[in-house]
Amino acid sequence: MSTAADKTIILITGANSGIGLETIIALSKSSPSYHLLLGSRSFQKGQAALSKIQADHGPALLSPITPIEVDVTSTSTIEATKTYLESTFSRLNILIQNAGIIVHRPCTTLENLRLTFETNVFGPRVLTETLVPLLQKSTNPRVIYVSSEQGSITLRSDPEYPWRDVPGTEYRMSKAALNMLAACDRYGFRSWGGKVTSFNPGWCVTNLTGEEGRVMRERGGARSAEDPARALVEVVNGKRDKEAREESGILYLDGGVRPWSSKIRGGCLRAVVV
Ligand SMILES: NC(=O)c1ccc[n+]([C@@H]2O[C@H](COP(=O)([O-])OP(=O)(O)OC[C@H]3O[C@@H](n4cnc5c(N)ncnc54)[C@H](OP(=O)(O)O)[C@@H]3O)[C@@H](O)[C@H]2O)c1
Repeated sequence: MSTAADKTIILITGANSGIGLETIIALSKSSPSYHLLLGSRSFQKGQAALSKIQADHGPALLSPITPIEVDVTSTSTIEATKTYLESTFSRLNILIQNAGIIVHRPCTTLENLRLTFETNVFGPRVLTETLVPLLQKSTNPRVIYVSSEQGSITLRSDPEYPWRDVPGTEYRMSKAALNMLAACDRYGFRSWGGKVTSFNPGWCVTNLTGEEGRVMRERGGARSAEDPARALVEVVNGKRDKEAREESGILYLDGGVRPWSSKIRGGCLRAVVV
């Protein structure tokens, strides 16, 4: 039986909803060996999510779940998260940077860019940087960035890409930047054994584009958020490492990778792709 000292401590941001919520449920049901930290930018939303998870899944939950307030755009909650992890567990094994937004209310392009980049890029960068010392204290440290193939420059440039007419320049820009963060961290963390994955969850029914968007996703045949959650359990357990590390790109939930930038075949540039 695992004790608090040998549990794998996993923090998932934006876990009160959608893919993050389903990943908490899938991980808890899969094994008693985790301690899951359900990150939410509002503590009340985190508590409410936990109550619902317990009501819906009760005895099937094997690993404990603790709600924790973390707004990725707030340096004070990021620092408080570090302090909490330090004093409670002295480490963090796995960080899943899942929180993300699409700005779907009318606003100026500049406001959209600022809001989108604050949450989807600046927050993840600062949160990971802040928590690196705690990741370094764990065995098998891992960071997973929940990205999107909408951030792939190769696919954006492909005239045959089926999603080419989907709007959202600001969101695409932010996920391209998040992919670069993942590439930089994947390279930078090698020296201390940190593994880094950029993950593409596919098109899912979630709250990402609000209630109307949720209905549109359901009608349009979007997938259940349980699908990427199942794939994320495999990433957490290292079952997808071979795919993720041998090729550069965004790990796709159903297997393989989506390119995150133009693929250069041969020549010296191929050698520096991570
Ligand atoms: N659904 C898809 O089709 C799809 C496709 C590709 C990629 N993704 C990515 O998947 C990730 C999860 O999104 P989702 O689809 O599950 O949407 P979702 O249901 O809207 O979940 C997003 C979560 O992020 C949280 N969040 C937003 N801003 C935050 C902040 N500043 N600090 C902390 N948490 C914050 C939200 O909290 P609130 O509840 O308080 O808003 C919510 O819990 C995102 O990174 C998204 O870009 C989704």
